[in-house]
Amino acid sequence: MCGIIGIISSKEVSSRIVNSLKKLEYRGYDSAGIATLVEGNINEVKCEGRVDALEKDISKFNLKGDIGIGHVRWATHGKPSKINAHPHSSEQVSVVHNGIIENSTILKKLLEKKGYVFKSQTDTEVIAHLVTDYLKKNSLKDTIIKVLKKLHGSFALGIIFKDKNDLMIGARRGSPLAVGYGPNENYLGSDSYALKSMTNKISYLDDGEFCIIKRDQIEFFQSNGIKVNKKVMNLSKEELNYDKGDYKYFMEKEIDEQPSTIKDCINEYVDKYNNQINIYNFPWNISSLKAIVLIGCGTAYHSCLVAKYWLEQNTNLDVSIDIASEFRYRKVRFKKDSLYVFVSQSGETADTYAALELCKKNKMKTCAVVNVVESSIARDADLVLPIYCGQEIGVASTKAFLGQMLVLYMLSLKISYDQKEITKKTYHSKIKNLLLLSNSAKKTLKLDHKLLKIGKVFAQAKGCMFLGRGYSFPIALEGALKLKELAYVHAEGYPAGEMKHGPLALIEEGMPVVVIAPRDEHYLKTMSNMQEVIARGAKVLLITNKNKDEIISENIWEQIEVDKLNDELIPFLTTIPLQKLAFYSALEKGYDIDKPRNLAKSVTVE
Ligand code: M6R
Repeated sequence: MCGIIGIISSKEVSSRIVNSLKKLEYRGYDSAGIATLVEGNINEVKCEGRVDALEKDISKFNLKGDIGIGHVRWATHGKPSKINAHPHSSEQVSVVHNGIIENSTILKKLLEKKGYVFKSQTDTEVIAHLVTDYLKKNSLKDTIIKVLKKLHGSFALGIIFKDKNDLMIGARRGSPLAVGYGPNENYLGSDSYALKSMTNKISYLDDGEFCIIKRDQIEFFQSNGIKVNKKVMNLSKEELNYDKGDYKYFMEKEIDEQPSTIKDCINEYVDKYNNQINIYNFPWNISSLKAIVLIGCGTAYHSCLVAKYWLEQNTNLDVSIDIASEFRYRKVRFKKDSLYVFVSQSGETADTYAALELCKKNKMKTCAVVNVVESSIARDADLVLPIYCGQEIGVASTKAFLGQMLVLYMLSLKISYDQKEITKKTYHSKIKNLLLLSNSAKKTLKLDHKLLKIGKVFAQAKGCMFLGRGYSFPIALEGALKLKELAYVHAEGYPAGEMKHGPLALIEEGMPVVVIAPRDEHYLKTMSNMQEVIARGAKVLLITNKNKDEIISENIWEQIEVDKLNDELIPFLTTIPLQKLAFYSALEKGYDIDKPRNLAKSVTVE
């Protein structure tokens, strides 16, 4: 949610700020803005909409300045508009902010009493006036310490000052923030992706820290002002080179990357020589675990849901799953012999992070399944299991979902073998099957042509349903989520067996329904449920897997057959056509596939 960039240099910065904002647009894209310091004046250009529009406006103003901050917004307080776009400035300072200031209403009243006049409806503007107010009687460093103490909620901040052309401030609580080191210039950014065109040397602020960034130096402080040293990390080649390549959309590329991301992830965990799964540094005795709790949001939650089936099937653990925003506010009974697993692509999702913090406060065993290994969730969990799928830019999660499922599947196998719930022979045979997955995913991607045509029908639907049983139920939820977020079509995912308990009433002539029915133990039952919707007029797209037996049903509108693999692995394959279906439906409607309306990639607010 929202992207921040800051550059302090001896060269002009506005065009580089704009370029970085383009990279950050996946974090928020309802308005954008920039402020630079020129001879003791802060000059701002802001606009509603995308960075392209901002760039056009900037060209009219000939925006100069060798210090500047920029922002792309995902609105929380105040609608998307030019006036609410960041930066927000007082007569002294200009601020960009990612997060929510929860006590902004109280602070605003106090500041208004002192005579400060507010222009926007945002929570951020209080920070600009608060800093201005404290600066009257305090040094810069004390001002920052005092202002940060006053703010409740989450933030990543970038601040420049009218009368200080040699520094800018960065600060974080909750929301992520990185700094980059350049030659006689330094940078501030919401993530390394925004900075990589300028530097490969990065440090991350820890929660509660702030920093003073000068052209030749960056100093870091804890919230009480005590200085801290930071590790400088080098971005990897992959991180530096990640872009759209020949693709028009990141999502399309990220779907197509899945055979190789699957392979990379398996290579990290599977010792092919000894045919076993290695999870190094597992800090607990696996056989002493009694329960596992999987927590995530959105697509990450769906991966937890699939994992519940694997863990129940293969281990003797009690398995529960939870949506992070619910878990964090429930009266949870924490148990010492439970493992709490937090699943998140970004590793920054506010609710998932808060759920992790809650578990840590209660001294629980915590494990993070993340893509971004420098993220807050990864840093704070006892054990980190990366999904190794490379940067994911498309707001709709695709390769990360497969990566999350993959790591959770391997974790389930590892636990089940260590607990002696499966024999060595079964363990080895499951691992052997796993090694076939990447190739089957590649074959599944080739079923593309059919989905282009099918996507056109789903794009025009008033509403549609996704049905499945067992492992295929969470995949139905994921398919429906993808269609909602990309094609803005109302879609419901349902356990196929639940239809006659209510939702069947929704079925009408011509309604598109996806039935996910691999030839597993649920196949025949799902086929009956499929007939029930066909009988009521549904146009069924059946997703199943290849088998020597014919499909036993009639009147199926369209059918996609993925590879035949071990039943446990089929969810990986049945997901792919659903990703493509959503992609083509959105394409048909001409929507912005990588940046669906009202959404943002990394949800760092509640
Ligand atoms: O970064 P996370 O995995 O924690 O994000 C969780 C959800 O916000 C995310 O999966 C969201 O549901 C996606 N847009 C779905 O495609």
